[in-house]
Amino acid sequence: MTEIEVVVNGQRHREAVEDRLLLTDFLRQRLGLTGTHVGCEHGVCGCCTVRLDGVAVRGCLLLAVQADGCEVQTVEGLAGSGPLTALQEAFRRHFALQCGFCTPGILMAAEDLLSRGTPTRDEIVDLLSGHLCRCTGYAPIVDAIEEAAAGALPPADEPRPEGT
Ligand code: FES
Ligand code: FES
Repeated sequence: MTEIEVVVNGQRHREAVEDRLLLTDFLRQRLGLTGTHVGCEHGVCGCCTVRLDGVAVRGCLLLAVQADGCEVQTVEGLAGSGPLTALQEAFRRHFALQCGFCTPGILMAAEDLLSRGTPTRDEIVDLLSGHLCRCTGYAPIVDAIEEAAAGALPPADEPRPEGT
């Protein structure tokens, strides 16, 4: 066992963990942050993506001990109990999620991309090449990220499509 100290979504945690414990399992099982999903556990699907010191990483390819001394952000840390982030709001407006299994990972990867400037549509498509979505066909996800990047969200009081 190794004692680690990590800040997750702004909260400091000191925990003794087995050296083989994956970061995804630490987040989900120890901290109860089940918004980080687990699919392939081979670095392929991208649904486990979180941000480690601001950089999008595959949680299934990292050990919890490798996060020692780092800041981790999961999807729960985006909006908390407050209003949705601009990116989350854009996903909602564009119906960019259906079952939602891929969504947390894509949101965290996209937040990282947006934090580094305004991506082109091709760069957004390139980002999504590392994320599997079986539902949406990707186009609404690209649209949502592009809209958030452009800061083109409508005012909050603009009428929304029925049922949203
Ligand atoms: S569960 Fe990590 S990439 Fe699929
Ligand atoms: S919304 Fe279902 S896998 Fe992407």
